[in-house]
Amino acid sequence: MTQDELKDLVGRAALDELVDGAVVGVGTGSTVDRFIDALAGRRDRIAGAVSSSERSSERLRRHGIRVLDTAEVDRLPVYVDGADEIDGRGCMLKGGGAALTREKIVADLAERFVCIADESKLVTTLGRFPLPVEVIELALPRLVRRFEQLGGRAVRREGVRTDNGHPLLDVHGLSIADPEAMEAEVNQWPGVVTVGIFAHHRAAVCLLGTGQGVRRLVF
Ligand code: A5P
Repeated sequence: MTQDELKDLVGRAALDELVDGAVVGVGTGSTVDRFIDALAGRRDRIAGAVSSSERSSERLRRHGIRVLDTAEVDRLPVYVDGADEIDGRGCMLKGGGAALTREKIVADLAERFVCIADESKLVTTLGRFPLPVEVIELALPRLVRRFEQLGGRAVRREGVRTDNGHPLLDVHGLSIADPEAMEAEVNQWPGVVTVGIFAHHRAAVCLLGTGQGVRRLVF
């Protein structure tokens, strides 16, 4: 199966994780696009969606799915999103699509994070994919040096600003043995808006697209 077919497969499989009549949290990325397309056929069974990006909101609306603001909901039973990497405990690297801050905000509203990904995303140790970090412009040079001290090479993502108007760093060369500790450490550096480690908001379930079908990993 091609990577696109695997994305289709897990996008459709995620429908089985939804709670009828509830608002669903929707992430961002090419895998989530497939989920949104599948969700169109189920739109009468959900109360609407809270989305983590302008990109996903537009796609949801095009399918006639009501998009609510995060301020309009207290809790979401389920948040469905992709990942750039996921490890055997459900910790993830995210932000390849620049939506990490809103993704973490919506994930924080959810009781269960359902990750949808093709099998290439499953890793033993996070960090082969460059770690995305949304930052305040003013702090950028200082943050580059701080990552250097951790053995990482932080590179500004050229021509990209987040939906919040901030630049992004992609940090190459890290091997993230303790995702919780690194997330906590980087989060408290002045000028960091969001670090793309999702360890404190890890997946509860991962639907992994493989050549043999969907593997459901429960963490
Ligand atoms: C968006 O900022 C990211 O966190 C995405 O969830 C992640 O990059 C996965 O995207 P794909 O489904 O396109 O691989």
